[in-house]
Amino acid sequence: MKKIAPSILSGNLLNLAAELELIKEAGADLIHIDIMDGIFVPNITAGWDIVSAIKSGTDIPLDVHLMIDKPERYIEEFVKSGADILTIHQEGCIHLHRAVEKIRELGASPGVAINPSTPISALDEILDYIDLVLIMSVNPGFSGQEFIYGSLFKIENMRKIIAKRELETLIEVDGGIKVLNIADVANSGANIIVSGSGIFKTDDYKKTIMEMKERI
Ligand code: DX5
Ligand code: ZN
Repeated sequence: MKKIAPSILSGNLLNLAAELELIKEAGADLIHIDIMDGIFVPNITAGWDIVSAIKSGTDIPLDVHLMIDKPERYIEEFVKSGADILTIHQEGCIHLHRAVEKIRELGASPGVAINPSTPISALDEILDYIDLVLIMSVNPGFSGQEFIYGSLFKIENMRKIIAKRELETLIEVDGGIKVLNIADVANSGANIIVSGSGIFKTDDYKKTIMEMKERI
């Protein structure tokens, strides 16, 4: 079954507890948390304390997306704070295999993300070791950007590679996804679909997520 992962930091930061309740009631399958460091991406969000706080406010699994340089420095903190899936960027990590193994040893599910300009072949050697590939469909850093349509070919090609290699790796797609284009993303082969402004900038999260689920 395909899953919807609302990107919680696109919600009302003044009242995260209420947002978590609303999003649960609306049918969220995972909570996506974007961690940005102002170096790997031009924006800064928060550290692992926000992950702990969110963990204490929900029983929905946490899907933590680290957009930080040298993410291996903080893997332990993020897993201990409650990340169920911990995704790091291929572009920000030199010893990717070591970092992925550490995520698994600590008890979380390892994911690796790639930017729009990174080819999926950059994942060839790591694919056997990870549970999830995150294909960015915007340049990471901000919510509310336009979906890059070339990402659909990357999703389709990744799906073919995973099938050919007989792996169970999940494909997650993140950036610019809304009710109107979610079917394209799902039909290309995504398993987990992230949406920030596509959910939180609508008036009725439940209606939006229901409409999304009808289309995937
Ligand atoms: C982008 C983040 C996304 C973002 C999604 O850097 O990784 O998760 O919050 O927001 P939308 O869906 O508005 O593009
Ligand atoms: Zn994200």
